[in-house]
Amino acid sequence: MNERNISRPLVPGTEESGQPLVELTHVEKHFGDLHVLKDINLTVGKGEVLVIVGPSGSGKSTMCRTINRLETIDSGVIRIDGQPLPEEGKELANLRAEVGMVFQSFNLFANKTILDNVTLAPIKVRHMDKKAAEDMAMDLLDRVGVASQASKMPSQLSGGQQQRVAIARALAMKPKVMLFDEPTSALDPEMVNEVLDVMVQLAREGMTMLCVTHEMGFARKVADKVVFMADGQILEQASPEEFFEHPQTDRAKDFLSKILTH
Ligand SMILES: Nc1ncnc2c1ncn2[C@@H]1O[C@H](COP(=O)(O)OP(=O)(O)OP(=O)(O)O)[C@@H](O)[C@H]1O
Ligand SMILES: [Mg+2]
Repeated sequence: MNERNISRPLVPGTEESGQPLVELTHVEKHFGDLHVLKDINLTVGKGEVLVIVGPSGSGKSTMCRTINRLETIDSGVIRIDGQPLPEEGKELANLRAEVGMVFQSFNLFANKTILDNVTLAPIKVRHMDKKAAEDMAMDLLDRVGVASQASKMPSQLSGGQQQRVAIARALAMKPKVMLFDEPTSALDPEMVNEVLDVMVQLAREGMTMLCVTHEMGFARKVADKVVFMADGQILEQASPEEFFEHPQTDRAKDFLSKILTH
């Protein structure tokens, strides 16, 4: 992380905080017979950081994926900044550009350089000119500490570096909200912190974030709310202190006893 300059912001200007930016209301989803999301109601205010935890198969990834419509829903409403999610077409593409997503697997374009990975969408979707897109990309790569890797191919970078590029690539679209789905769980332990550091910085700069993660230190440090899911339902929503010290449900107590003991 020695390349990184912490003092420079990743997020331009903080929007007025508190207003709902992402709202899920009575969201239901099935995969065939499996009822994977059950009456999900969730509000993320501007500038809020939510950490989503829960056992494997509880629907965390599916819920994240519905927010940029990588998955459809059966019923209910999802709004981003007050607008219901568009069904398809140009409006959907515009919406996707407003929701940045970082996955467990880095998902960089393997046959493009790091720089091209970051400039591709701004040029294609935002119609930025190449020079402006490259300047912005270099700035973002610098801020996540990988500017010196710009001309390399993804396979030449470590997992932690690739994941930081994935974050820079998402930020290049100037998203209103960032979704992280277990962004550090495929990384070697020594690389986890370099990615979490970037996420902490983003959170502190006022980015609205939904993070599925088992990194409880991160949750305690930056989460405004911890959301506990089990069997497709949200069972608890509380501040990190409340959730970790006083979980209300047996499912959450059981979950915490398992993850906090190793
Ligand atoms: N495309 C799909 N088709 C059918 N079933 C699916 C599909 N995607 C997920 N599921 C099922 O939906 C349930 C919820 O999956 P999901 O990936 O959302 O869970 P998760 O909480 O993210 O779990 P993990 O912690 O293991 O990542 C699981 O039972 C899973 O097998
Ligand atoms: Mg998952």
